[in-house]
Amino acid sequence: MRRPVIAGNWKMHKTVQESINAAIGLKRKFYTFAEADIVICPPFTSLSKVSDQIMDSSIMLGAQDLYWEEEGAFTGEISPNMLKDAGCRYVIVGHSERRNIFGETDDDVNKKLKVALRHGMVPIMCIGERLEERDSGMTLEILEKQLARGLRDVAKDEAVRIVIAYEPIWAIGTGRTATPQQAQEAHRFIREFIERSYDREAFSKIRIQYGGSVKPENIAQLMAQEDIDGALVGGASLDVNSFAEIVKNAVL
Ligand code: 13P
Repeated sequence: MRRPVIAGNWKMHKTVQESINAAIGLKRKFYTFAEADIVICPPFTSLSKVSDQIMDSSIMLGAQDLYWEEEGAFTGEISPNMLKDAGCRYVIVGHSERRNIFGETDDDVNKKLKVALRHGMVPIMCIGERLEERDSGMTLEILEKQLARGLRDVAKDEAVRIVIAYEPIWAIGTGRTATPQQAQEAHRFIREFIERSYDREAFSKIRIQYGGSVKPENIAQLMAQEDIDGALVGGASLDVNSFAEIVKNAVL
């Protein structure tokens, strides 16, 4: 009932030519693909060229971040209009690397989320706990705080368009995936938060992805969980074949 969404976050990888090559490779495999939304999120410099490549295919373009102002003196930032102009339909907000390395707050995430929605893009809102938070039993409390602050003043009709990505920080780039049970527990909690904040319809509609060391070998088990609707893939999305395997195994 919920359409799976598999997104590749290329992070700070690939030149323009490397991005084009990867896009061509993926387009060959997924020119038409009905079973899931496939999204690739290249670095800003590659967006427009990748868009040219995938335009007429089933693959969609996403950005890795945005700023909440429309334009102005904000050196180094990128606006929602610029992303749309480059062909983006999705945009990642609040990735843990943005939060931890660049100091983004839940308030910033909330502003980014709202501006993305206002411009008709689908925000992929990332949340997740650190290892020490999990070890001290604070996971759900952390998720609740990130959700409550990140979704502040977002109406239900907009909230149901958001994709939430549960990315436990200890699983990102470490090879240590959350077990399907750990991921399912967090996803269920997130879905129930959405029900408490909105209603049962929002509970059923909202799509929740898992992210953190997703690979062709573990995606099927994750997707078999009731509340896991897709994946946000980092390292394994950089290689066309491994990302293609993930997409295929996700919808088996
Ligand atoms: P890895 O798949 O490399 O663990 O990265 C996950 C991630 O951060 C995706 O946004």
